[in-house]
Amino acid sequence: MKTLPHLFESNRAWAAKVRKADPAFFERLSKQQSPKLLWIGCSDSRVPATEICGLEPGEIFVHRNISNVVVHTDFNCLSVLQFAVDVLHVTDVIVCGHYGCGGIRAALDDKRHGLIDNWLRHIKDVYVQHEGELNDPKLDPEARVNRFCELNVKAQVANLCATTVVQEAWARGDELAIHGWIYGLGDGLLKDLGVCITALDQLPSIYRMKSAKAG
Ligand code: CO
Repeated sequence: MKTLPHLFESNRAWAAKVRKADPAFFERLSKQQSPKLLWIGCSDSRVPATEICGLEPGEIFVHRNISNVVVHTDFNCLSVLQFAVDVLHVTDVIVCGHYGCGGIRAALDDKRHGLIDNWLRHIKDVYVQHEGELNDPKLDPEARVNRFCELNVKAQVANLCATTVVQEAWARGDELAIHGWIYGLGDGLLKDLGVCITALDQLPSIYRMKSAKAG
């Protein structure tokens, strides 16, 4: 049996350090979580939501997948979203991509990567919507990847706003803002892409569903 003892050792050291700084920390957190933020980010090991926001355990509810994609048939992501919105009553959902994303890079090439190609297809669809801009010969390859990373975040913000979960929250009158951010691996800084959506009337009309009550 393999046991990874170094991780248990570092875990004990971490827990002791936290307890020393705040003796009631774990007792308080074990009773309940009440995060006001949902983070949908990339699985990349260099982009851990809580740490890069300078927050503590208990402050961000998190869903991560390859290249922070929101797909309306992905019950994993939708379940996280529904729990966060309907039960935890988060006020802000953040889709956060990062520059130099490997998934975005893989979506750009024409190689076969196996099963994941079915996932990357969603990202290739974003490319097609912005083909003119991304095909610009003035863009160097790295700038193309990074611009694609930004456009992917914007597309996923739009996808989130079109979900039943978000639209029902707005129909109930809940305060819920959907943000699009991007993170720089090279400097550790977050950038707001300025695509925040807070209400149904900010969406293209085809995605606006009337509430069931209104008929
Ligand atoms: Co990534």
